[in-house]
Amino acid sequence: MFDKFELLRPHNYPAEVSGTGCKVYEVAGEKLAVLNLMGHYAMPMVGNPFRCATETIAALREEGIKNIFIDMHAEATSEKRGLLMMFKSQVSAIVGTHTHVGTDDLQIDANTGYLSDIGLTGCRDNVIGMDAKTPIRRFMTGLPGRFEVPEKCRSILQMVIFDITDGRCENAFKIKRFDDGREFVTQAWMD
Ligand SMILES: [Fe+2]
Repeated sequence: MFDKFELLRPHNYPAEVSGTGCKVYEVAGEKLAVLNLMGHYAMPMVGNPFRCATETIAALREEGIKNIFIDMHAEATSEKRGLLMMFKSQVSAIVGTHTHVGTDDLQIDANTGYLSDIGLTGCRDNVIGMDAKTPIRRFMTGLPGRFEVPEKCRSILQMVIFDITDGRCENAFKIKRFDDGREFVTQAWMD
């Protein structure tokens, strides 16, 4: 039911839009479901991500899949935290994406790893990784423009690692590495 198309898009898009936002992969002999959802605040109009998550997680658990990873692509941290409060202990990890700014709240709550936003991998000295000229012109004039990646920039790599056993997140690390070699590693706190 989840493997119809290879095209990836948020799972809460209308059903007639091609693709899927949920795929089940084999990793180290176990099944891992990856679910991508899009939030509501300041985002394009899509179906309710919380209802979509409720139905999809129930279907995955019905299939006996314990390892479930959610990417919540959303502007508002409240929507991301809401998802954690709804599904902690039912899924392995929930991470936010979209803001391009890595957050400082990596934690494990009731065996679910959580981070509000991983942050961008790309240019760190412009605006959300894009050449600052276009966004500044937009802020000054209200006119749209095409975002472009700068030809030269100072870069950052950001990633998060979850240690998942039998569906439960047991440890997690956030890694931030700058182009000049500086590296910052944070370990998740546990509640
Ligand atoms: Fe986005």
